[in-house]
Amino acid sequence: MKLEVNGRPHEVDAPDDMPLLWVLRDLLGMTGTKFGCGMAQCGACTVHVDGQPMRSCVTPASAVAGKPITTIEGLAPEGGLHAVQRAWIELDVVQCGYCQSGQVLAAAALIKAKPKPTDEDIDAAMAGNICRCGTYQRIRAAVHRAAELNGENGRAA
Ligand code: FES
Ligand code: FES
Repeated sequence: MKLEVNGRPHEVDAPDDMPLLWVLRDLLGMTGTKFGCGMAQCGACTVHVDGQPMRSCVTPASAVAGKPITTIEGLAPEGGLHAVQRAWIELDVVQCGYCQSGQVLAAAALIKAKPKPTDEDIDAAMAGNICRCGTYQRIRAAVHRAAELNGENGRAA
């Protein structure tokens, strides 16, 4: 099947029901997207498909063939960082890091959909992304900061 990941085409030899997460990690070597629960409950495996956050652990790769897929490896624009990544660094969000690529992808989709999210928007959008280290307060603050940075840049994330 043909997959478009981070703007590049890939021809992948995989069964139709293979989860996108396995294709990304095991066949394409993109290990930034993490396996947590494998049952759409934790958000560690979040990627964007057509700009929307999606759980790659329960998404058959064949279902997203031909659609633009973005992983943590491809979120940043050429030669820079995404506003969410800059805010994450500035506020030192990460603890162990395991959940964080999923958190960053979820946050990027949120500020694209809602450039100035409220606390309630953030809590609602990020509720499905579990962090065992409990970085939720810093995540919330960093989403606000990312929205500010995005506004300063005068462009959508
Ligand atoms: S690994 Fe996909 S939601 Fe947990
Ligand atoms: S930073 Fe450790 S699980 Fe979230």
